[in-house]
Parts: sequence; structure tokens; C-alpha cells
Amino acid sequence: MCARFKGRSLSVINDLSVEEQIFLYQKTRELKEAHKEGRGLDAFRLKNPEASFYLLFMEDSTRTKESFRNAAAFHGGRVNLFDAAGSSFNKMESISDTVKMLVGYAPSSTFIIRSRLEGLTAFLDDTLGEYCVHHGIEKPVFINAGDGKHEHPTQELLDEFSFLEQKNWDRSAIHLAIVGDLFHGRTVHSKVNGLRIFDSVRVDLIAPKELMMPEHYIDEMKGNGFSLRIFASIEEYLTQDDTAGIWYFTRLQLERMGDEVLEKAGQLRKAVTFRREFMPLLKPGTRFYHPLPRHKEHPTVPTFLDNTALNGWDAQSVNGYFTRIIEIGLLNGLYDGEAEKSLPPVCAKPAPSSSFVKEMPLNPEPKISDRKVGIKPVENGIVIDHISCGPSIETIWNNIDRIRKVLHLNVRSSHGVYHRNDPNFYKGIISLPDILSFSQKEVKKLAAVSPGCTINFIKDSRVYKKLRLDMPPRVYGFSEISCKNEACVSHASHHESVMTEFLRAGEQTFKCKYCEKPFHYDEIWDL
Ligand code: CP
Repeated sequence: MCARFKGRSLSVINDLSVEEQIFLYQKTRELKEAHKEGRGLDAFRLKNPEASFYLLFMEDSTRTKESFRNAAAFHGGRVNLFDAAGSSFNKMESISDTVKMLVGYAPSSTFIIRSRLEGLTAFLDDTLGEYCVHHGIEKPVFINAGDGKHEHPTQELLDEFSFLEQKNWDRSAIHLAIVGDLFHGRTVHSKVNGLRIFDSVRVDLIAPKELMMPEHYIDEMKGNGFSLRIFASIEEYLTQDDTAGIWYFTRLQLERMGDEVLEKAGQLRKAVTFRREFMPLLKPGTRFYHPLPRHKEHPTVPTFLDNTALNGWDAQSVNGYFTRIIEIGLLNGLYDGEAEKSLPPVCAKPAPSSSFVKEMPLNPEPKISDRKVGIKPVENGIVIDHISCGPSIETIWNNIDRIRKVLHLNVRSSHGVYHRNDPNFYKGIISLPDILSFSQKEVKKLAAVSPGCTINFIKDSRVYKKLRLDMPPRVYGFSEISCKNEACVSHASHHESVMTEFLRAGEQTFKCKYCEKPFHYDEIWDL
């Protein structure tokens, strides 16, 4: 039986199931109570003198770094603060090479990493896992301490813990206003799934369009069953009286914005900054939260609120220490025995289905040579049919082009765009008299570049086999694909030698395995 938590990494909030997150909150609550009552805390401490902790922060941090440093010190063992600024990164050493080397110096290690590279810890968990098996080293635990504008799962855990405290542990419902830079704010992006611990979720997003949450996160929240409303400013939000009791503010990350947006900085800031005149419009008992830091000149939560009952952010910040003690213990297996008794069994992830290739019944189809229009009849060979069926002729031509490049179809062929029963609908056809079969890899490529198409295998002018292709569950190992997110760890500009991998995420969408950015299937190709 494999261990429940030991050796797992935390790259995104969904790396822990809802039940596991609730378990973590319960343990944190027990720790806080024991701490408050001055009881012994040994039950919360790892008993492994060999344990070592590497804090590798390649972006600035105060709270996450210091709370993790203290949480690691609580557990004992070796706490190493990696000097990213003075390291061989400056000699163009890759992060994966650096971490490989550190793993050898620090057996039984937990790496806590902040980076602007999105998906870095997920990538390290993959590659270092294989490396450690090969070298007989215990696989390290990787904890994402914030990656670009992707996720900040440990901030999310302390945020949700703080909300639970305010709600006296009632998980039946939450009504949350999220205010500020929802575009860049990774703490907000982690809420898209972190809020699933509540049975019923209402979210009010408050931000001008320049700072609004990316569409795919909004869709995901809707997919999670959250009820959503969108407002352009706090002022607009307060013109109606159904306001949330919990407000979560974020800092404007102007340093990440282009000149066009920066020109409007004052206006954007005003839209998401709380003002004294708003005070009477708040619902009684409202509490404000903020991951901090606040901007010292332009805080979205002004300092005149510090000594009011609205201040939830100070206690929230302290919770970072307690939740992170539990996270380290959890991922190092401290609670595995207890978790086994109280949590539902771990289900092995089902292997991705390979049912993207479906053999179709053969209609008493006319001989290919009977086709009246266009395509050159094929006596023996392959016809790719139903390419990009739809109203857009341009899309079909583009996809015919892409298929020819992806499959390197430098052979005799004919191709074209044809009507599909309905006069407003078209489809593409490529006929290949010189090709008798496709390899599995070619079929998968075709499924990923043109889902919905069919492959007709023809012998003696008759179709003897017909396959319909759907989007594959995983696409990897093709040199023609790449993640187009420049901040993704797999982006070629970072030279981390990451094999691009996409996972099916919807009818026509793949998402990058590492940065999780979604792309329409025709966007993943470099052609
Ligand atoms: N909340 C947060 O991540 O703060 P730091 O940047 O100070 O770590």
C-alpha cells in the first residue's frame, strides 16, 4: 500500500483533494489550539534528524519565505537558505541541474521554491522523481511558494483556513468578494479550486477589465458550480446591497503591466482601493483579508483600517506559520497513519483513456471513384475526410495545411474543401494514393491537429476500414508542439529542457501540463 501523503509535492491547490485540504485545516486547528493553550507540540513535529529543507526563492518574498523558514526550523533538521542571487544561475546553469545537485547534498529533502517560471515545481517533481529512482535517492518533496501568475497553493491554504476561522468552521456556504489585480494575482487563481471546500460558493469579482481574471479561470469557477458576479469597481459593487461578508484584496502588480495599462494606473488603482466613504455601506461583521504585502504608497486596503474590526489580514498572515508547519509534516508523512483511518482511500488515478480512435461501421459507401466532385479517386491508399467540418472555409484550409506539415505529407496527393450536405457547411479532404497506413504516432498527431476527422483506408477502390479521431487525452513527445506561455517552465526561452506535454481539458482545448494554460487544439503547433 502506498503512503497517503509522504513524498507528494504541492504545485497547485488541486494536488490535494478537498478531503485532504480539510484534513490539513483540522490539523492546523489542533496545532493552533495546542499552541494557544501552551501544550506540548511534539505531536506536530517531524522526528527525523536527517530532514533537510531548501528554501529556493528566485523572486522576492518576506511572508512566505520567513514563515516557511520558521516552520522548517520548528521541525528540526537542516534549514538551507539557497542564495539564488549569488549562485551559478548567473553562469547560465539551469534550475533542474541546480536542484539535482542539491538533492545529492540533502537527502530526505523538502524544496520550497518561488520562481517566475510557471509550473516549475511540477516539472521538478517529474524529472527529479526519475533521477532519484535512478540514483537510489529518496525523492524530494517540492512545494510551490508562488510561480509567476499561475498559483500560490500554500497562500491559498492559509487563506481558506482564515475564512474557516471566521466562519466558525461552517463549510456549508461562503460569499466572497475578490478585489484588485485578478489578472496577475496568483493567490486569486488558486481560489478557483481552493474554494471548493465550501458546499455552496458565491464569488463577486471586483476589478476593471484590464485587471479582470483571465476568462479560463472564470469558466473553471462556473464549472465548479460557483455563482459569479462581476463588477468594475468597489463603487459599482456598493450600489447594490447584496455584498459579501468576506472581502479578499490583492495588490496591483503594476510592475508586470505594459505601458498601455500603466498609463491608466491611477484610474485602475482607484477602482479597487477602499475609501473611507464606503464604510457605512458595508454589511455588519464584514472582514477584509489580503495576502500582503500592501503597497506602502497606494495600499488597496488603506492603513486607516488597521485598527478596525475589518482587519482580518493580520491574523491571516500569522496563519501562514501554522498552516506551513502542518504542510511540511503532512508531505513528509507525519500524519499518514491518522489520515489512513479518517480519509477515503486514495484512488489510483485512472490511466488516460486511449479511446480517441474509434472504428466506424462501414456504410454501404459508394466507391471512392464514384465521388462526383473534386478529389482524385484513390484505388489504394488513405483519404483523410471531415477535416474541420464547419462554416469557415479559411479554418479548413489552414487545417489542411497544418496536417500536411505535421504529418510531413510530401507525397502525391490531392486535397480540397467541399460541401457537407448543408450548403453552409464545409469539410476538408486530403487524399493520399501513396500511403497505405499510418503509424500510431501519426494517428495521434492527426487526432491532436484535427480532432473529428476520419481516416478511410482504401483497397481496390473500396473503404475497408474507417476511423474517427477525437482529441487524445495526452499529447507529448512531438517536436512540433510547444506551450506558448512565455512564463511557462517548458518555454524554450528558459532552456530547462522540458518535454512539452498537453492534457485534454475540454471539447477543443488542451492545457499545458506545467503552467496549466489552456489552448485551442490548433494553437499548440509551431507551424
Ligand atoms: N503573501 C505573500 O506571498 O507574501 P510574500 O511575497 O512576502 O511571500
